[in-house]
Amino acid sequence: MTEQSATLKIGDKSVDLAVKSGTIGPDVIDIGALYKHTASFTYDPGFTSTASCESKITYIDGDAGVLLHRGYPIEQLAEHGDFLEVCYLLLYGELPTAAQKKDFDYRVTHHTMVHEQMSRFFTGFRRDAHPMAVMCGCVGALSAFYHDSTDITDPHQRMVASLRMIAKMPTLAAMAYKYHVGQPFVYPKNDLDYASNFLRMCFAVPCEEYVVNPVLSRAMDRIFILHADHEQNASTSTVRLAGSSGANPFACIAAGIACLWGPAHGGANEAALNMLTEIGTVDRIPEYIARAKDKNDPFRLMGFGHRVYKNYDPRAKIMQKTTHEVLGELGVKDDPLLEVAMELERIALTDEYFIEKKLYPNIDFYSGITLKALGFPTTMFTVLFALARTVGWIAQWNEMIEDPEQRIGRPRQLYIGEPQRDYLPVSKR
Ligand code: SDX
Repeated sequence: MTEQSATLKIGDKSVDLAVKSGTIGPDVIDIGALYKHTASFTYDPGFTSTASCESKITYIDGDAGVLLHRGYPIEQLAEHGDFLEVCYLLLYGELPTAAQKKDFDYRVTHHTMVHEQMSRFFTGFRRDAHPMAVMCGCVGALSAFYHDSTDITDPHQRMVASLRMIAKMPTLAAMAYKYHVGQPFVYPKNDLDYASNFLRMCFAVPCEEYVVNPVLSRAMDRIFILHADHEQNASTSTVRLAGSSGANPFACIAAGIACLWGPAHGGANEAALNMLTEIGTVDRIPEYIARAKDKNDPFRLMGFGHRVYKNYDPRAKIMQKTTHEVLGELGVKDDPLLEVAMELERIALTDEYFIEKKLYPNIDFYSGITLKALGFPTTMFTVLFALARTVGWIAQWNEMIEDPEQRIGRPRQLYIGEPQRDYLPVSKR
């Protein structure tokens, strides 16, 4: 890591700060000693200019629309790899050999069952509970069932917990769906690949054999790849912050699920589909574009814009292609939602407001149309995002634990409240 320095002048004080360069991407100014030398904090709500850690896992170039996982472009991973291969890459840093892949697939496959008592945990929820609420509860509860992999100081236990999370999320997500629709749970089958197993656990019923459609399971697998990791986004930062206190991995992932649920983040796929449904027809698009541009209207085009991408989200391009593949395979010709989505995208990409603010479709814009076509209700969309993102969360969590610079995360503040004052008896208020 090459080091230069920056000099900061505050009044008559000046302090030299180290400037660190990474492999690629922006340099960072190390402000760790700033408060000690200047008695001042930096101020960056939303962390638009703040790097929280060093990482080797994912690199994003927002201006160029580039996304690399351990150096490999997302387009190549989505085209040539499968989700468990990407999981191995994110966890271990290299693409697996054939033998390593076979062993990894076997280990994940043989962790897909959940403790039988977990099924009783589900029955405590109302049937109409949002599946994300169920996932927050059930994933957090895993630490009560798998206490033998919660010692974060033990690398072996960390890896067992990592495999358990990757393996069990599809089973829990499918159980959340089955409970939501009032159908019996379906156990995983070890002779199916990851995505096929998930689709079968969701859509098989005891009354007949479920035959996996290879085109749909390949699309599902690719959707998982597209959602696997994304640098220090809000939910990943939540997992890292929770993990910095020494919390067990299941609790940290539950915290990540809770954060992902927000409509500004992973909840945008559900919100985007609801928005397309509300728009309904192409002739109503101008009304919604006008609302999105109106400062007095809180409405935003869901699935548009991104904190980092000021160009087209590379995942959205692949997602759009997958949407056409799935709709084609299912014989869905004129999907009104797709028609609205494509016309909305065309208009927005030529509109001055969106061009000036560099607002492009993000991964959530097309994913909802695809997931709906696959048979999922909108309430399950963010659950699928959480399922796929679990590997990113757990890889980043492991990296954080192994980082020698790692300390408990504890930001400071700019206090704008009342200066010290004395208590007033109620008779004097
Ligand atoms: C994900 O971080 C990640 O990597 C996240 C993610 C991942 O994989 O983990 O990529 C997944 O969360 C994708 C984003 C999904 N969210 C949405 O699609 C919700 C709609 N988008 C916005 O809420 C917004 O674009 C964010 C939250 C995504 C980004 O917000 P920022 O970076 O804080 O930008 P901002 O809110 O400051 O907006 C900048 C300007 C504002 O106008 P001004 O105040 O400067 O005049 O752009 C406007 C905003 O009003 N704007 C939009 C808009 N998004 C931003 N206007 C209309 N519609 C939108 N969607």
